[in-house]
Amino acid sequence: MNDVTGPENSSAGEGGFRMSYEDSCDRVPVLLIHGYPLSNMLWDIQLNDLTDISRMIAPDLRGHGMTDPTEPPYSMGLFAEDCAGLLDHLGITGPVVVGGLSMGGYVAFEFCRRYPERVAGLILAATRSGADSAEVKEARDKAAGVAIAEGTAAIAEGMLPKLLAPDNYEAQPDLVDFVREMMQETSEDGVVGALTAMRDRPASTPDLPALDVPVLILHGAEDQLIPLAEAEAMAAALPRAKLVVVPGAGHLPNLEQPEIFNDAVREFLEIFYEE
Ligand code: MLT
Repeated sequence: MNDVTGPENSSAGEGGFRMSYEDSCDRVPVLLIHGYPLSNMLWDIQLNDLTDISRMIAPDLRGHGMTDPTEPPYSMGLFAEDCAGLLDHLGITGPVVVGGLSMGGYVAFEFCRRYPERVAGLILAATRSGADSAEVKEARDKAAGVAIAEGTAAIAEGMLPKLLAPDNYEAQPDLVDFVREMMQETSEDGVVGALTAMRDRPASTPDLPALDVPVLILHGAEDQLIPLAEAEAMAAALPRAKLVVVPGAGHLPNLEQPEIFNDAVREFLEIFYEE
């Protein structure tokens, strides 16, 4: 790993005075994109535990968390451009590791299509590469109707039991409340916009064989929303992927088993410091 304290990072001042400093910005930048209908609070534990090895950047997508909503429809292209705009704003023009959970993975795939030169590697958590079936597209429209008629709390209550592994849902009320809080903060425009973006996204499966960067795939063994078989199929189609199946986790493995998740991410990020 790089040690940023040293002569190469010291500035020569008046009278030969030199000041040494640490700047975690020297770490590999990791863009972490949350799922639907969540926010960057999803990544709190990763932001706390992994900043020694990476420069973590975790936006709230449009209409989610504290980012302004705009009128739907949204698209994966719009989300990907928002992420690229954030990196531009931060002056990060070189390649980054792009990480996405579930819908965040769909955004990551779109980012790869638009900016392949800006992608050093991928972390794909609880996601899939296929497009929506006709049945799922219909369900997206229905869910948008529910969000408009009954409010986004109704969406949150409907999704919550499916987000976590059943045992975690039963035994971890604080975790359930944390996830509920994140979901309830998503604006109606954000929910409807994300539903349209997911409904209309193209399949990324045909892109996988040409995605020749290191990829870490993490998937909860008990994911009720996206079956483990989806992760296995992506791992088989990608040239440089490693699949980590997270035991005791559902659709939010980074929250349900943070130690296992973070250890796998740390080991993966070490690749980027090898000569
Ligand atoms: C998510 O967790 O981001 C969504 O549930 C993904 C999806 O509905 O396809």
